[in-house]
Order: sequence, then C-alpha cells, then structure tokens
Amino acid sequence: MKAIPHSRPAIGSEEIAAAAAVLESGQISQGERVCQFEAALASLIGLNGAVAVSSGTAALHLGLLALEIGEGDEVAIPSFVCTALLNAIRYCRAVPVLVDIDPETFNMDVQDLKRRLTARTKAIIVPHLFGLPADIGEIVALGVPVVEDCAQSLGSRYRAAYTGSFGVLSVFSFYATKVICTGEGGMIAAHDASLLARIRDLRDYDGKDDGALRYNYKLTDLQAALGLSQLRKLPDFIGRRRAIAGKYDGSFREQGLPVPCCPGDRDHIYYRYVIRTERQAELLEAGRKEGIAYRRPVFRPLHHDLGLTGYPQTERAFRECLSIPLYPALGDAEVDAILCHLRAVLK
Ligand SMILES: Cc1ncc(COP(=O)(O)O)c(C=O)c1O
Repeated sequence: MKAIPHSRPAIGSEEIAAAAAVLESGQISQGERVCQFEAALASLIGLNGAVAVSSGTAALHLGLLALEIGEGDEVAIPSFVCTALLNAIRYCRAVPVLVDIDPETFNMDVQDLKRRLTARTKAIIVPHLFGLPADIGEIVALGVPVVEDCAQSLGSRYRAAYTGSFGVLSVFSFYATKVICTGEGGMIAAHDASLLARIRDLRDYDGKDDGALRYNYKLTDLQAALGLSQLRKLPDFIGRRRAIAGKYDGSFREQGLPVPCCPGDRDHIYYRYVIRTERQAELLEAGRKEGIAYRRPVFRPLHHDLGLTGYPQTERAFRECLSIPLYPALGDAEVDAILCHLRAVLK
C-alpha cells in the first residue's frame, strides 16, 4: 500500500477542463469567474454577497478592518486553533483574548468566553472546528459582532441553517487541504452591503486616488474556475466524508473507543475526524512507520505562542487529540488499511 497522506485534494477532469478554459481565454487574473464564484458561495450560504480574496487569513484581516478593529481593541478567539486568527488580529494591532474550549466539541467554551469579555471586546471570531458547528446561536446572542470562521465547516449546519449565515461576517478558506480547494484562496460573505463594499475596496490597491492604505488580496480567475467546479461537488464531497466517518465510528465503537461527538441541533461535515487518545505519541509514531499520516489537528495551542496559562481543556486536547486521514479522495482500500492499522496498534 502506498503512503496515505493526511490530506489530498479531490481534483478531477472537471477542474482540469475549467482551468484549461481559463488559460485559453487569456483572462487569468481577477475577472468574471471570480464574480461567479462569489455569487455562487453567497447564494449557497443564503447571504447577500461575498468578496473573494487570496487566502482565509486575508479574509480574516479584511473582515476585522471592515469592522474598524484597530489598536487596543480586543478580539476573542479560541486557544485551540491555527495561528492564522492570531496573525489577523496582530495585523490590525488589536489584542487577542484567548478562550478555552469545550472538551466535547473542541469549539469555543461559551461560559469561558463570557468570563473573558470586556467593554473593549470589539469582535469574536468563531471557528467551527473540524467541521462541527460551534454554539453559534448562544455566542451571537451575547451581542458582540461575530465573525464566523468557516475555513473548516463549509456546508455544515446549525439548527438547519448553514454555518456562515449567523455572524455579521463569515470567512472561508480554499487552501489545498480544505473542504473545497483552489490551491490558496479565501472568501468573506455577509448580508451587509456596506461592509462588503469596504472589503471589496480594501482588496485591491489600484486606481484609487485617496492615498489610503490598501492591499493586493485578489483571487484569480484560474483559482475561481477551480472553486466553481469544486463547489458543484460539495454535496458529494460531504456525502463521502460522512460515509467514511460512519465507517470509522462503527469500527471504534466495536472496540469500545470514543468517537467524535455531534450535538443533535447541528451536523458535522468531518473536515477532520479527531479522536481522543492517551496514546497520541505512540500512534503518531506507529503511523509514521506504516506510512499513514495521523496528525495533531492543531499545530500548537495559541496560549503557548502567547506564553499564557489557564487553558486546561486546550492543553488536554493538544496532548490527546489525533486526526485520522479523512477526505473525499481517500479510497475504500485506504480506509480499510487505516482501520486495520489502528485495530492492530490499539488492541
Ligand atoms: C479555522 C481556520 N481559519 C483560518 C485559516 C486560514 O486560512 P488560510 O490558510 O487560507 O490563510 C485556517 C487554515 O488552516 C483555518 O483552519
């Protein structure tokens, strides 16, 4: 069996034909296909509009700028997530306020969030980690502007509505490992036309005569063509993810092992299939020897970056969480090989 990577994009003949058509057209930079990709994503989520950008990080950065977040403003984020969120806050010279996580869902702990809010909290960035919606209804009800981070959750629902439809803004990533991918890429979606206009203006520096600071965060038509093809396949991608997760759940339950939780008022798209095990280091090493890329799902908790303590659930998740390969391009034989390997190591 060939090595099994932790992620692999599902690129088919449709994406190759779409990319070739863009190359033949000569319109390879931001153009009509970017507009079509924006409209398609906004319509899927049920929002008025969207602005495509060069990455999820760029989407977070422009989202915070559009909310006029600047020096000294506090922005709450979970401590168990990638550094992209922390960086976007730092780009704005704002102050990150880290929140511990719920040990069951790995998402932001709402009680801990409430304890850490102050009069200076100007926004909360809420990731729906691993494809499972956070307690977004309760968080939005706190009355602080919410940026939903849907980098890992495109297509998942909370109380029947898509994640991304609850916050004042929602951001997406189309990095190569994501639910749909364009290599690199991102999007910001919203109801509010004035926020979208501000973000659209900040994305492109050219042709503006007021001398204000702007960025080059544009997506290209080449990437948008990939994104449009991938978006059409989203239901199939999610179906395949759920089918593999069902197989993993069945096998782990048979062995008396815990499976990822999913509260009844939301659904999971299994962007990552994350289990808890006290044998994390041993499994990482056993996988490395076998050519199966198990991973820690978060590289390093953010409170480590900031030299903070007081995040016991994040600390425990960092020590115990293991992400098992799960993606639409993972074949049945690979799924069986993974299950067979885990059964042998964990018996
Ligand atoms: C939850 C979350 N937010 C934001 C990002 C940043 O996206 P990008 O890598 O496209 O900048 C990621 C990427 O890994 C992510 O997982």
